[in-house]
Amino acid sequence: MKNKKIITIDGPSASGKGLLAKELAKQLNFILLDSGLLYRAYSYCFEKAHNHSEAMELFSQLKIDGVTGAMAVYEKENNITQLLRHENIAKAASKLSSLKETRNNLISFQRSLASSHGLIADGRDMGTVVFPDAATKIFLIADVEVRAQRRFLELQNNDQGVNMRDLIEDIRLRDEADRAREISPLVPALDSIEVNSSLLTPHEVLNKVLEIYKERIKEI
Ligand code: DC
Repeated sequence: MKNKKIITIDGPSASGKGLLAKELAKQLNFILLDSGLLYRAYSYCFEKAHNHSEAMELFSQLKIDGVTGAMAVYEKENNITQLLRHENIAKAASKLSSLKETRNNLISFQRSLASSHGLIADGRDMGTVVFPDAATKIFLIADVEVRAQRRFLELQNNDQGVNMRDLIEDIRLRDEADRAREISPLVPALDSIEVNSSLLTPHEVLNKVLEIYKERIKEI
């Protein structure tokens, strides 16, 4: 039985998944799972811990808030979400996310967010591994140059100095690693629909996905 209350959005970095997921969560009043942020948070813990059980211990002490429209991570009282958006954390997360221990440690937390409230799940393996029963699965792609430009603006707004050439290279390398890894690689689920956001505005992407969602839940 397909779950009408779950929409999965998978795809490479900076394809526009985050913004789309946030807007969908707002429109449909669903909870938001930004799984990339969880992998970043886990990497942040792992750097302090140096082994998986200690990392998991630290991770379980973080407060993760996904109900208010945008996912946020708190360490004690500090909101560390912006810190986790740094490129060095993204690189560490990409490496660590290829390990079985990391993925096993995070899967039950991700699944625990599915409920009658509805869930928008943003990541790489949401439709293939974490929520294979989701009724609506989107695979969002965009040209690497377009993605690098988007990430460039995002990082500049976040006061991180970067240059375009390095960024394109970093995105390429990270995508290759995400696609080539053995466990939970970045691949479209067989029942997903591919949306290319290169030439679309965020509003157009949102409308397209809302249409797909309405069609999908009608079919069930
Ligand atoms: O989406 P993001 O850039 O915040 O994700 C950071 C890293 O986490 C990304 O390089 C790959 C990894 N990741 C993953 O392996 N599986 C997911 N479902 C989400 C992210």
